[in-house]
Amino acid sequence: MMATIGILGGTGPAGRGVALRLASSGHDVVLGSRDADRAGETARGLIPRGTGLISGATNEAAAACDLVVVATPWDSAVSTVSALRAQLADKIVISMVNALAKEGRELVPMYPPRGSMAAQIAYALPESNIVGAFHHLPAAQMQDLDSGLDADVVIFSDHAPARQHVADIVDEMPGLRAIVAGSMSLASPIEAFTAVCISVNIRHKVHSYVKLAGMGH
Ligand SMILES: NC(=O)c1ccc[n+]([C@@H]2O[C@H](COP(=O)([O-])OP(=O)(O)OC[C@H]3O[C@@H](n4cnc5c(N)ncnc54)[C@H](OP(=O)(O)O)[C@@H]3O)[C@@H](O)[C@H]2O)c1
Repeated sequence: MMATIGILGGTGPAGRGVALRLASSGHDVVLGSRDADRAGETARGLIPRGTGLISGATNEAAAACDLVVVATPWDSAVSTVSALRAQLADKIVISMVNALAKEGRELVPMYPPRGSMAAQIAYALPESNIVGAFHHLPAAQMQDLDSGLDADVVIFSDHAPARQHVADIVDEMPGLRAIVAGSMSLASPIEAFTAVCISVNIRHKVHSYVKLAGMGH
């Protein structure tokens, strides 16, 4: 059965892109927001190709879904999930959050006390299974189903069944291939590499994305 997936901070470009491709692979998606009306308006502007429906609601309603994605800015991720700890208990929570700072033409990684945003979220949600995914995806191409996107999604978690479940979901999303990298120990370099991706795109005025060669499928 298809899971219903909630996205905290789902009204931003990152959440909208993930929502569109999840719904296009058949999932019903709830865009969460601090403002349910804004989320409803945003959801109405997203037209998936598939059987999944996208609706807009509060972050609380998004957190009530079977599986939840965190797509807020880094500096509000922990406060957002902490307020929803009870609703998120015993669920898979996907972090796509990158802690980055702009310095001139570059994005540079920042390192939270626990080394990564996924680890910060795991610390805030001890009853949830945290999986990292979607960090390197370009939101503009994610939101355009005709963009020809053919990107890899690098996935990590300390909970092997949870990360495999997320990998199975990602592999069904149009334009994406799941690559299970390993444990939460890899969170820091995976999140930090997003700074490389964005800085390359700024410097070279391109829209590149991550695709690992030699995977054999
Ligand atoms: N943009 C990308 O290409 C991309 C790709 C991969 C990963 N990411 C990561 O995904 C996350 C979201 O990126 P984004 O570009 O979509 O960010 P964004 O537009 O700045 O924020 C996303 C949403 O978060 C909510 N939000 C903003 N400030 C908040 C606060 N103080 N407290 C609670 N919620 C707040 C807003 O929704 P409401 O106002 O409706 O509540 C906003 O629409 C980031 O952590 C980013 O690193 C981004």
